Amino acid sequence: MSELKGHISAKSLTKAFGSALAVDDVDFTIPAGSYCCLLGPSGCGKTTSLRMISGHDTQTSGSIAIDDRDLGTIPPAQRPTAMMFQNYALFPHMTVEDNIAFSLRVKGSDKAVRRQRAGHLLEMVELTDFAQRKPNELSGGQQQRVALARALMMNPSVLALDEPLSALDPFLRLKVRAELKALQRRLGITFLHVTHSQSEALALADQIILMNSGKLEQVGTAEDLYHRPETAFAAQFMGVQNVFRADGVQSGAEMRIFRPDGGQAGGALYRAPIDAFSFTAGETPANAGPATPAKVSAIEYAGDHLSLTVDTQPGDVGLKVQVPLEAAAMNPPVFDQVGTLTIKPESLVELTR
Ligand SMILES: Nc1ncnc2c1ncn2[C@@H]1O[C@H](COP(=O)(O)OP(=O)(O)O)[C@@H](O)[C@H]1O
Ligand SMILES: [Mg+2]
Repeated sequence: MSELKGHISAKSLTKAFGSALAVDDVDFTIPAGSYCCLLGPSGCGKTTSLRMISGHDTQTSGSIAIDDRDLGTIPPAQRPTAMMFQNYALFPHMTVEDNIAFSLRVKGSDKAVRRQRAGHLLEMVELTDFAQRKPNELSGGQQQRVALARALMMNPSVLALDEPLSALDPFLRLKVRAELKALQRRLGITFLHVTHSQSEALALADQIILMNSGKLEQVGTAEDLYHRPETAFAAQFMGVQNVFRADGVQSGAEMRIFRPDGGQAGGALYRAPIDAFSFTAGETPANAGPATPAKVSAIEYAGDHLSLTVDTQPGDVGLKVQVPLEAAAMNPPVFDQVGTLTIKPESLVELTR
């Protein structure tokens, strides 16, 4: 592979809309040639961050550099970036080929050069036979590939993709997801992919930047975010950890669990992976370690296991518990069943926020 391109460095990046801070003093670096996912709930500032990097929005303060070149207020077309918009934004009256070649035409490139490069990109996204069609004669997935090819026309070092999979049906989503990753590896440029889906980020990203209310919550590999979330927000957003307050965890068998928001008195803030818990119907088993009475409030089938929600007293906190199918077959959980929740104390991680 050729030299990797697209090292991004953002310093004190801030964007205010009126008095509201959409992006609030954010610092990050993204390695050249990596697949980076900008992850977080709706409204946390992902699109705004992406648009400042691509030059479609100007930051209120702070700076962005790509491959050590400060971008200042350089307009989008002169940046080493390309943007694939959420709605693809294809020109309806132009053919597929003209859509793809558009940016080079604007630049005044020679027609033969344009045709050759567009032909190469059409091949890459497997749309050669569709070159003369209009966008409305293509499926959603094909339109997306046109948008992708158009974005790559100018040989960017960074491709910015805003929720590129959200308009696709679930089957196509998995297929295109794999294609994006393969394409990124082949090109050796940075893909900066905005998503609100933790599973999408886990599947794709070399690096995840998790945002919350305009700020960085945590930056790390998929493994870091999944196994080692540092905050209650990160643990809950990644969806594989229970977050709660508890007392009595260290002292012995009696444990009390409370809501994480601290609305009630009680205990330190913890996270623990959902497989750190087990639920048994009836009385507390002997020597089970920290335990608390609990009641089954939901049962969901999840392929290779059942996912239980059990409510604990006195804090009325619903915790997630995984029951392997073999265990569930021997001892099927029942809605409203009363029993005991036990936890492996060594799996608890104390959080500061
Ligand atoms: N052009 C705008 N004018 C005013 N507020 C905006 C504008 N664009 C975004 N915002 C606000 O900035 C915040 C972040 O928006 P956005 O970056 O689009 O979030 P995300 O992409 O993570 O859903 C939101 O509160 C949104 O309402
Ligand atoms: Mg957005």
